[in-house]
Amino acid sequence: MVKSLLEEVMTVSLRRGILYPSAEIYGGLAGFYDFGPIGTRIRNHLVNLWRTRFVENRDFVYEVSGNTLLPSPVFKASGHLNHFTDPSAECSKGHVTRVDTLIEERLKIPAEGKTDKELEAIIQEHKLRCPVCGDPLKEVKSFGLMFGTNVGGERRQAFLRPETAQNIFLGFKRVQTAMRAKLPFGVAQIGRSYRNEISPRQGIVRVREFGQMEIEYFINPDQLNDCPLFEDLAQVSLNFVTREAQEKAMKKSSTDYASIQLTVHEAIKKKVVPNQWMACILGDEVEFFKHLGIPEKAIRFRHMRPEETPHYSGGNFDLEIHLSFGWKEVIGNAYRRDHDLQSHMKGSQKDLSLDIEGKKVVPHVIEPSFGIDRLIYAILEHTYRPKDDTRGWTWFQIPNTLAPYHAVILPLLNRPELEEKASTLFSVCKQQGLAVIYDASGRIGRRYARADEIGIPKAVTIDPQSLEDETATIRDRDTGNQTRHLISQIPIILKP
Ligand code: GLY
Repeated sequence: MVKSLLEEVMTVSLRRGILYPSAEIYGGLAGFYDFGPIGTRIRNHLVNLWRTRFVENRDFVYEVSGNTLLPSPVFKASGHLNHFTDPSAECSKGHVTRVDTLIEERLKIPAEGKTDKELEAIIQEHKLRCPVCGDPLKEVKSFGLMFGTNVGGERRQAFLRPETAQNIFLGFKRVQTAMRAKLPFGVAQIGRSYRNEISPRQGIVRVREFGQMEIEYFINPDQLNDCPLFEDLAQVSLNFVTREAQEKAMKKSSTDYASIQLTVHEAIKKKVVPNQWMACILGDEVEFFKHLGIPEKAIRFRHMRPEETPHYSGGNFDLEIHLSFGWKEVIGNAYRRDHDLQSHMKGSQKDLSLDIEGKKVVPHVIEPSFGIDRLIYAILEHTYRPKDDTRGWTWFQIPNTLAPYHAVILPLLNRPELEEKASTLFSVCKQQGLAVIYDASGRIGRRYARADEIGIPKAVTIDPQSLEDETATIRDRDTGNQTRHLISQIPIILKP
């Protein structure tokens, strides 16, 4: 049977220690994956790139690191307790199915924003059945997506956070006071969030425990068109799918949306985005994506339709990446206005406003929210190279900045004098801060294949000539070409 690209990427990922199901030896649990040694290195590099661009290089962004378990009043105020649900229906055998995605997939009609009763009517009209066993589906009910527990002797109800954002709103005043931050400023968080998805699928694209990298930018509502990033980003080109383009396609029962190319500057002028800040945040993401190995044509910003957008939103734009199974949201960009701070002021009875020139101001918030696992999958899929006539193995053309190692060091033959030289070079590279591994087992072709399969950009081989003239070869992963260099120069050449 021919494997889908998703299956191929997941197969190599499992074999090479990129990721594997959590608790696999007990049969695992759908929607939970662990990153293995190689996946963890790639993940760490991605997180570091993100932190460098969006936090370290910005003197107005502060990073925090909050708990994942929070008391229930937080989620009562945020609205998650009552509204963070997916519509589902059970069949007579007890299989529970998420019905909005079932309708969208089977009938190719949008189901977002419809009430449970409306969804039930569609199911009955089109006689949709349980996708597992084919039995009829019963009534549609809202399925809460948060994982709950009870804390301590008092058994206080608490939930695992469904987004890292909430800690940021809760600690907003603390951060602002401690850092003496003036608007506009951002608070960033990299961490785990949890959603009890009814039917997680597509490898690590839809999982129940996942990584997020989020920033809440707190902005004076009078200064939404005064973003400090504008000058640097004004000419960045963005690929937009407008609401009009979606309506037009949907009238023809199609999800094949046309897109338009606009610079950040043009998107503001033409009012495709609600304000300058939002446009700059989108431009910033495009610039970041230039280093991730995903082609520009596979990236678009879709303006979420009204029925997909919360009532308080001033405009949400998903960064979607084209994958082998369609366009998938990888970043959600939301103009949340002052909804979150106002909700927590009401819920906690604490004043979260700022005093600006004698006036009480509740900042507006724009939030880019990156899904780490989805982004890693998108990078793997876009950099995956199947076997072909020139190379008899699959490999990943992962950008050097994300690759798990800078190089692999290989003695060509199983001879002590070659191994000694190779292991000396390995130690020198490590001392110089390079991430290298050593591989002495098996035929050289097999070792090149192993390195390619985890995307290592360079392979350095110590061969008999190395003993005579102190040189070694460097093989380039992308071209397969080999060049010879003085061993003393190799750590310098390998430096990224
Ligand atoms: N904070 C937005 C999200 O998690 O989707």
